[in-house]
Amino acid sequence: MKNIYLNIYKPNFFNLKKAKDYIQNNNLIGLPTETVYGLAGNAYSDRAVKKIFNLKKRPSANPLIIHFNNLKNLKNDAIFNKYFLKLYKAFCPGPITFILKLNPNSRISKVACAGKKTIAIRFPKHRVARKLLSLLKVPLAAPSANMSSKLSSTCAKDVFDEIENKIKFILDGGRSKIGLESTIIDLTGKPTILRRGIITPKKIYEIIGKKIFLRKKTKNIKSPGQFKLHYSPGIPVYMNKNKPKKGGAFIIFGKKIKSGKNYFNLSKNNNLDEAANNLYKTMRNIKKLKYKSISVCKIPNLGLGNAINDRLKKASYK
Ligand code: TXA
Ligand code: MG
Repeated sequence: MKNIYLNIYKPNFFNLKKAKDYIQNNNLIGLPTETVYGLAGNAYSDRAVKKIFNLKKRPSANPLIIHFNNLKNLKNDAIFNKYFLKLYKAFCPGPITFILKLNPNSRISKVACAGKKTIAIRFPKHRVARKLLSLLKVPLAAPSANMSSKLSSTCAKDVFDEIENKIKFILDGGRSKIGLESTIIDLTGKPTILRRGIITPKKIYEIIGKKIFLRKKTKNIKSPGQFKLHYSPGIPVYMNKNKPKKGGAFIIFGKKIKSGKNYFNLSKNNNLDEAANNLYKTMRNIKKLKYKSISVCKIPNLGLGNAINDRLKKASYK
């Protein structure tokens, strides 16, 4: 069979150097992280950042997450506060994104921040992302590597399926361990979760000992995982169902459920972490198998189940 994945590269020393060159020349690369793959470019360069928006067809009002290796140099870009420092110590590097006030002297592209006075920052844990960041003198602007409103990518081939060879270089860091985007917490006022993820409100509460708010609806899009249709596999998704539709697939969860060829179990062990990890992979697989729709059984609203249901709600928006 013909190898179509010609822009996917192993993350050896030689290719990491090549990735560095791509970034320094304001080109984009596919970057593995422990949550999902990113479409990464030089965060200081308007030119690189504009390429990200154009390629993804992303609305220019939707700001990007800026990825750093550690706290060094970040002071020039963001204004720290005590909650940030506590959460950083507890969870970073790891799957959490902080919204902080932007330092007015910051060199981060204004296009990346969509002209806002705030900045989203994250310290990815994946060893390939960390290695590349350590080779670079610039932070990386990186949204999830998918077309706007579509499903995030959890392996290098998914990135190719989304954006084909519109970028020249995708680093292959294996399957993303978590498989769901980072938790986003806004720390510019009362601590408020804008997007749920594996770091739950409870875990955050245990660190900062203060009530954590949850943003339900958006006024002026604080975090546009809040645009309506999102995380979409490109076929209709129906939540809280007991059976599939005609010609459709059925996503199930847990032990005692009967199964069939078109049934896909997110976790036979009733494990919500495993289910979250399998969600995008399973939806992509169902789409590839040419089913016409996806019905999903009720997923418990506990722990990561909340994050799964948030994504499904947006994927099923009509
Ligand atoms: O796990 C992740 O966070 C992945 C990996 C690649 O790091 N990235 C990711 O990026 O999910 P993206 O662009 O798909 O989602 C970023 C979200 C968007 O909903 C965006 O609106 C929000 O972060 N965001 C960025 N800057 C913001 C800001 N200043 N205020 C509020 N929300 C912001
Ligand atoms: Mg995204």
